[in-house]
Amino acid sequence: MSDSSPIDHAQLQWDEDGQPLSSVFGDVYFSRANGLEETRHVFLQHNQLNERWQQLHAGAHFTIAETGFGSGLNFLAAWQLWLTAAPAGAQLHFVSVEKYPLTKSDLRRALALWPELDEFTAQLIDAYPGFVGTGFHRLNFMDGRVRLTLIIEDAARGFSQLLATPQPMYASHCAKIDAWFLDGFAPAKNPQMWSDELFTVIRQLSHPGTTAATFSAAGIVKQGLKLAGFNIRKVPGFGRKREMVAARLEQEPGINQQAPLPARSYSPYPVPWTINAAAAVPSAKHALIIGGGLAGCTSARALAERGWKITLVESHNALAQEASGNPQGVLYAKLSPQNEAQAQFNLHALQFAQQFYRSRWSETGEQCGVLQLAHCESEQQLHEQLREKFSAADELVQFVDAARASDIAGVTCSHSALYFPQAGWINPRRLCETLTNHPAIRVITHCAAVELERRDGNWQINNNPELRAPIVIIANATDAKAFALTQHLPIKSIRGQITYLPQTTPSSALKTLICSEGYIGPAVSGQHCTGATFNLKETSRELRPADHRTNLENLRAPLPALFGEWESVHLESLPGRVAFRCTLPDYLPLIGAVPDEQAMLDDFAPLRKNARAVIYKTGTYHQGLFINIGHGSRGLAYTPLCAELLAAHINREVLPLPRELANALNPARFLIRDLIRNKRQG
Ligand SMILES: Cc1cc2nc3c(=O)[nH]c(=O)nc-3n(C[C@H](O)[C@H](O)[C@H](O)COP(=O)(O)OP(=O)(O)OC[C@H]3O[C@@H](n4cnc5c(N)ncnc54)[C@H](O)[C@@H]3O)c2cc1C
Ligand SMILES: C[S@@+](CC[C@H](N)C(=O)[O-])C[C@H]1O[C@@H](n2cnc3c(N)ncnc32)[C@H](O)[C@@H]1O
Repeated sequence: MSDSSPIDHAQLQWDEDGQPLSSVFGDVYFSRANGLEETRHVFLQHNQLNERWQQLHAGAHFTIAETGFGSGLNFLAAWQLWLTAAPAGAQLHFVSVEKYPLTKSDLRRALALWPELDEFTAQLIDAYPGFVGTGFHRLNFMDGRVRLTLIIEDAARGFSQLLATPQPMYASHCAKIDAWFLDGFAPAKNPQMWSDELFTVIRQLSHPGTTAATFSAAGIVKQGLKLAGFNIRKVPGFGRKREMVAARLEQEPGINQQAPLPARSYSPYPVPWTINAAAAVPSAKHALIIGGGLAGCTSARALAERGWKITLVESHNALAQEASGNPQGVLYAKLSPQNEAQAQFNLHALQFAQQFYRSRWSETGEQCGVLQLAHCESEQQLHEQLREKFSAADELVQFVDAARASDIAGVTCSHSALYFPQAGWINPRRLCETLTNHPAIRVITHCAAVELERRDGNWQINNNPELRAPIVIIANATDAKAFALTQHLPIKSIRGQITYLPQTTPSSALKTLICSEGYIGPAVSGQHCTGATFNLKETSRELRPADHRTNLENLRAPLPALFGEWESVHLESLPGRVAFRCTLPDYLPLIGAVPDEQAMLDDFAPLRKNARAVIYKTGTYHQGLFINIGHGSRGLAYTPLCAELLAAHINREVLPLPRELANALNPARFLIRDLIRNKRQG
């Protein structure tokens, strides 16, 4: 169900006071008397947020979920209160679902009504994404002190993606909500926002102590909350509203046998192999990370910002000496008109990455834009197919003809292109250094993890008591094969060579990154970086003139003016660099807990005979052992979101991706696939 469907934006009218009204639902977004005061009364006060937040400890995590993001007023008011009430080290996670998002210009206009929130409004508007169909958007503010997960979807469908599985027995093995803001339009006008289906999901996402508040005291609301197991109280409403409802869940919600199985799923097996029932956040928030490339460093940062202490070991004498060691990498991910997992993941990753780099460009690269040329017929067809889907996402991608592409690039481009104005190039090594420059992260170089053992509830590297922690993350790309516990993973290595070309007079005009068969960017210190070749199963680290030739030839057709200047260079003496990409057979990364190979094969053995076998066992994963590898050619786009996803798994938080998409990255997927194909014997 998490496939991306087209969406409609909110249709607004503005009253004489400049307040927004929905033309479709015929209702107001907030009280005409004073929307901000209404929010404070109904949602903040009646979820007792001030009192509850004052009692939190520094590393605490508090999750609010809202039905109907609308103008974001509730979010901003909660954010404002959080800064005064909660301790500085605690984290607020606001999860909101919205089927008809406001456009950015409508959002700006609506929020201009609240000058006292300006400081927060500016940050929200800056980060507010262009929407391309249904999906999740994770926006982080103030170094993660405040997170927003905006789910663009119908409320019940969207929140059901937060359940651990559609299987009723294990559905509620997921991160839980601490307080609900129920803020659909009035029940009579917007019944879908008060449906039994939604309240059933609310029940599964709540824990004893979860509260809920809503402006309405209609019968359908009270019945719904009772269905969800909440005790309800009628209390005075805001302004002219006589009553509203405040509620609290006192008891563990039971299993809901009626919860439906999904009609469509990226995970085709209706067995709960993706559930890691043993996962728990350890009391000592200390993690070891193996590998100091993009995957290791983004993971370190994502956890450090959540209050974790990190020890990262890297076998080389410095960070980012392998795949993450190129001087220039392109922030790029292929868009697709399809809805399959990879297309969905690419889009989520690219949008998250653009936000992630927003404050980091000046230190680590250049946001010079990326042009993806339609350099062959299939690419031209693809661009045509993308047009409709991405027509309303100008901030993400624009469709430009050859003349406009040439204008943007500063050099003649012979093809039309997709233009990504918020992308650019990053120096991955500098990025790794910046990310690990955090007081909670200790980097130990010259330290190759050889032995990995779990003893007395802790993982230990190389039998060294200083390298001991309850959690370990394997982020060492293809070298993950060397560990006994991960050698079953079908990891592939792909050799790649890049070529450094001297800056020439025509090439000095290049202003943007250009991707066709290969890529080339603006020169840095008199040198362009271009590449890269693809060679599966090759292990040579030697620079090869033939590969330089391939890189150069890839510039000939799309950029004739530049190519001419380099045509006669001596390939033998050209500098460059060789490194190895780590990839999986489905070209998606591996993110999450490491499965216990033998236990999985035993538990799910019936799949060998019947791919549809119903098995009531959860997956068996090594406790505290996680992995983050397989970023292929897209490390810059993939690793920020993957680190966020992994940190959310480890910290037991609401994930930044729909469940089905997170499952598509599950490290156990190949074991299950092999069982289904009857390829693996126990
Ligand atoms: C030629 C080439 C060009 C590329 N161009 C781009 C591009 O333009 N844009 C883009 O987004 N991506 C690009 N990529 C892909 C990108 O570089 C990778 O996806 C990314 O760097 C992977 O990061 P990683 O941390 O997973 O792996 P790595 O960077 O390889 O990091 C793994 C680290 O683990 C360390 N390690 C290994 N074993 C151990 C051990 N036992 N103990 C301790 N440490 C260990 C290694 O030394 C290494 O530092 C390119 C890749 C190549 C090869
Ligand atoms: C009262 S407004 C929310 C106001 C918002 N909380 C704010 O702070 O501005 C109700 C919202 O619910 C959204 N909505 C209506 N039906 C929906 C549905 N089925 N699923 C998700 N959102 C829906 C509307 O688009 C609207 O933005």
